[in-house]
Amino acid sequence: MNGLLLLGIETSCDETAAAIVRDGRVVLAESIASQMDVHARFGGVVPEVASRRHVAVVTRVVADTLSQAGLAFAELDGIAVTYGPGLLGALLVGVSAAKGMALASGLPLVGVHHIAGHVAAALLADEADAGARLPALALVVSGGHTEILRVDERFGFTRLGGTIDDAAGEAYDKVARLLGLAYPGGPKLDQLALTGNPEAYAFPRSLIDAPNFDFSFSGLKTAVANELNRRRQRGEAVDIADVAASFQQAVCDVLVEKTARAVAATGLHRVVVAGGVAANQGLRRALAERAEADGFTVVFPPRRLCTDNAAMIAAAGYFAMRRGLRHDLHLNAHATVSLADWQCGRVV
Ligand code: KG4
Ligand code: ZN
Repeated sequence: MNGLLLLGIETSCDETAAAIVRDGRVVLAESIASQMDVHARFGGVVPEVASRRHVAVVTRVVADTLSQAGLAFAELDGIAVTYGPGLLGALLVGVSAAKGMALASGLPLVGVHHIAGHVAAALLADEADAGARLPALALVVSGGHTEILRVDERFGFTRLGGTIDDAAGEAYDKVARLLGLAYPGGPKLDQLALTGNPEAYAFPRSLIDAPNFDFSFSGLKTAVANELNRRRQRGEAVDIADVAASFQQAVCDVLVEKTARAVAATGLHRVVVAGGVAANQGLRRALAERAEADGFTVVFPPRRLCTDNAAMIAAAGYFAMRRGLRHDLHLNAHATVSLADWQCGRVV
């Protein structure tokens, strides 16, 4: 088969995932073992439990992926693994597994920055289209990150700004919890917002007028908590669909405004949206409308590739390897690592 085949492994949080991707664009096989049910009981991810589950299933998940693709290690061209940022113990499982497989097979190894992985999801082709082209702006909105990045044609990143406190997904999960929705609350809040009035509550749009590309969502979360408390103390009924819709509108207004301004400031007219919150229906609609009005294009990965998966890690690994990035068996896991340090190979 022509093209470079990379195996991707992702264990940074609560999904154990493996995938094989050709040339960073075409997904040949994918396998994912979600731990969502295990953590739902605790209302959030329990790091130690996550690590143990990764250990239990990672070998099977990789073997499933190889057999789905009908490929052996000897037919692959490299192994890409998420090495940070994320939960340290969880990351260590994937990194150790990948190092063991690289040692045994002799395949080249590349550690991948999780955020670069999310961005690469938008470059993957699916049945509907050929995937985005670079250069582009990237709006990364996940459980741990909210950032606006410039991505050059060689998959190099420059950070324009990001959240100074909570990430967008984190705000979704925290507000969902305040509304009594089960973990993980983001998708449930998204669904609930469809039936609510987005103008029912005037929640704050923090930093919307600040002349930078930074975000702040913790004040918004506090505003929702205060509003709910006030109403409950007064014995007033709360329509949680209205709260959900108004919260979502506040988040989307800021994300859309800053993204549109980044387009104007950089002259880049292609925006890729990445991370779990890129699956959000309200955000998809609001960004598509603004893109149409302002004359830029916006690309969303297929919804299943918005949340954590290994196809995006294999794709990012391919583009990073093409830039010359390689790691050896000294590769370690890092709970925090910047994109800048990753791409120039400073942190291994
Ligand atoms: O990218 P991801 O899978 O993990 C991280 O790298 O953080 O993102 C997970 C986050 C969670 O906070 C989840 O609630 C949120 O993405 N999310 C959503 C939606 N689907 C996932 N938030 C809002 N609307 C959605 N449809
Ligand atoms: Zn993620």
